[in-house]
Amino acid sequence: MIRIVVDTDPGVDDALALILALRSPRAQVMGIGTVAGNVEVESATENALKVLRLLGRAEVPVAQGCAAPLVEPFHGAHGVHGRDGLGDCGLPPSGLRPSAEHAADQLVRLAREWEGALVVVALGPLTNLATALLKDPRLPGRVRRVVAMAGAFGVSGNVTPAAEFNVWADPEAAERVFSAGWPLTLVGLDVTRQALLADEHLERLAGAPGPVPPFVQAIVQAPMAFAAARSGLRALALHDPLAMAIALDPTLASDAPELPVAVELRGAWTRGATLADRRSQPAERGLGPARAQVCLRADVPRFLAAFLETLAG
Ligand code: BDR
Ligand code: CA
Repeated sequence: MIRIVVDTDPGVDDALALILALRSPRAQVMGIGTVAGNVEVESATENALKVLRLLGRAEVPVAQGCAAPLVEPFHGAHGVHGRDGLGDCGLPPSGLRPSAEHAADQLVRLAREWEGALVVVALGPLTNLATALLKDPRLPGRVRRVVAMAGAFGVSGNVTPAAEFNVWADPEAAERVFSAGWPLTLVGLDVTRQALLADEHLERLAGAPGPVPPFVQAIVQAPMAFAAARSGLRALALHDPLAMAIALDPTLASDAPELPVAVELRGAWTRGATLADRRSQPAERGLGPARAQVCLRADVPRFLAAFLETLAG
């Protein structure tokens, strides 16, 4: 049984990742922290609470976190995820409240309570994690592992030609998280872009019982329409669900070497870009000391099959 804390900005794919975690027999979700990213932090909080209400899991604490990145203003990704972050499909309010704690304080507290045991799964901008590192500089030694949906190492970005959204949204926070010295796994666009939810999958879900299949059908419509308009492909990239699945089952990452990594904080066109030094002898003119396991390949068919099974209940 893995004890996890999820830091997230729901977000349609975040909501699907939460369902995966909350339904996993391998995981116990100890707490959820929310962060401004895809939507304002208040909407992210309400969306996490809506998922808990849907699954009848109101006992899982949700702590609201940072409302803006460390340095630059908040931008959001409303064009993809809808004004409300769950595809503007008219879901009723959760009727639930977050806890009084800040998400960074919740993370620091849980890491102390479960010293050495917690897996932190970060699915949004890394502002809360960076803030928690400031609050407790010994945090890296207290957690078992951090798995972050972050970066684009050998592929182009999704917000700019160079940068992936979660890193681009708060590059300074990402830089601190990358160099904190904890065991870090980065699940970036290199693999998540290959995990696509398409209409054929939704059709398979259609007859499944319970409240999850209609919820999924409703929330994915807006981002799928966005993708169709932008690229001609009507599909939802399962960025956060794949990162969550790899956190729960690391064998899904079929190629994940440990490499020196860095975040570009300057650059006229490359702010928020992520680099991994894949040279065989990276000592010469290399990156800084930060290292992470960088997912370059994943068993996407196995992930998709298990993911659809979980959604179908
Ligand atoms: C990441 O950005 C967000 O829009 C998604 O929720 C995911 O976490 C993908 O770049
Ligand atoms: Ca996200």
